[in-house]
Amino acid sequence: IKKDHVEFFNDEGTKINKKVLELSSDEEKYDKGDYKHFMAKEIEEQPTTLKNGIKEYVDNTNNDINIYNFPWKANEISSIILIGCGTAYHSCLMAKYWFEQLTTLDVSVDIASEFRYRKNRFKKETLYVFVSQSGETADTYAALDLCKKNGMKTCSVVNVIESSIARDSEFVLPIHCGTEIGVASTKAFLGQILILYILCLKLGLLRKDLKKDVFGQKLKDLRELPKLVEQTLLIDNKIQTISNTFNEAKGSMFLGRGFSYPIALEGALKLKELSYIHAEGYPAGEMKHGPLALIEEGMPVVVLAPRDNYYKKTISNMQEVIARGAKVLLITNKSKDEVVSENIWETLEVESTNADLLPFLLTIPLQKLAYYSALKKGFDIDKPRNLAKSVTVE
Ligand code: G6P
Repeated sequence: IKKDHVEFFNDEGTKINKKVLELSSDEEKYDKGDYKHFMAKEIEEQPTTLKNGIKEYVDNTNNDINIYNFPWKANEISSIILIGCGTAYHSCLMAKYWFEQLTTLDVSVDIASEFRYRKNRFKKETLYVFVSQSGETADTYAALDLCKKNGMKTCSVVNVIESSIARDSEFVLPIHCGTEIGVASTKAFLGQILILYILCLKLGLLRKDLKKDVFGQKLKDLRELPKLVEQTLLIDNKIQTISNTFNEAKGSMFLGRGFSYPIALEGALKLKELSYIHAEGYPAGEMKHGPLALIEEGMPVVVLAPRDNYYKKTISNMQEVIARGAKVLLITNKSKDEVVSENIWETLEVESTNADLLPFLLTIPLQKLAYYSALKKGFDIDKPRNLAKSVTVE
């Protein structure tokens, strides 16, 4: 942002102030090196940003996770509510699946702009987690403020540690992925889900929901993740060609089940933000309850079907859309078993790892798909129309 007019409104909607922010241009301060866009650089640097995040929290010597000065005892927390907007909300949703799977905590997620106006049941034993790249999003801040006023336990997961959300929450977990310039979030998304996964493992261990050996194995797999992301980033040429079909389509769908569902939502959001193509993220099993009516001959549909517990179910949902004429881009992980299904338009394979970590890898081709679609359309990739990096007004 070079110069921005920010208008402030009170709760009744009356304009109460107007000021001009004079911020230095981020593009002048940061270098995109050989990349055409900051977004391309931010996608490619994810192995490094993940490595940094892991280094900050994972103690290799003791095979443990270090979260210093956590203000509460594990038994003081029986439930967790994760709150955010946009991509950060998708991180919250991703974390819900992990927390449910790996801990006995009750977990729910909320969109900040909804949470702040609902009649919430505040509970002392609930930990309220606010996820925000910028730490300045007005709705997320208002949700945090509401929790504070009700005396709740508050924790934030932010990239910008000098931000309002970080300052005003009781405990902060920084994601350590460096400044993100591209308006559409990429490395911050992986950074957020990394830290939420780490928090989930730690609470799981402390609450004895996770056995020490299972925890140790999960940490071992986590240390391998940056390398796997690096290898997955090599899928490139094919995505460039695939993106043409999305650009020619009236609309597209992104489907996934279980751990892949939040990633389907995030993939659809990236395509909308950057290429202005209508894209809908949906739970694959929910298609038959309405959206199947949208499928017509040649419509591109991304199906996320990694080899996890949902694999067979998702493949069967995929066949339902193929039968209605969809052009399916299947994204799965490498396996010795071939995918048994006819008429798949294209298949992309990410690297393999344990089921918890596959969402990180599935995200990569989706980021690239959105990037190349927008590139071919000649849109402003780092600053999509109508959007702002940090939405500080309601
Ligand atoms: C804006 C950005 C999105 C971002 C959302 C939440 O809408 O364009 O990319 O996900 O705000 O931002 P935050 O900084 O709170 O993560």
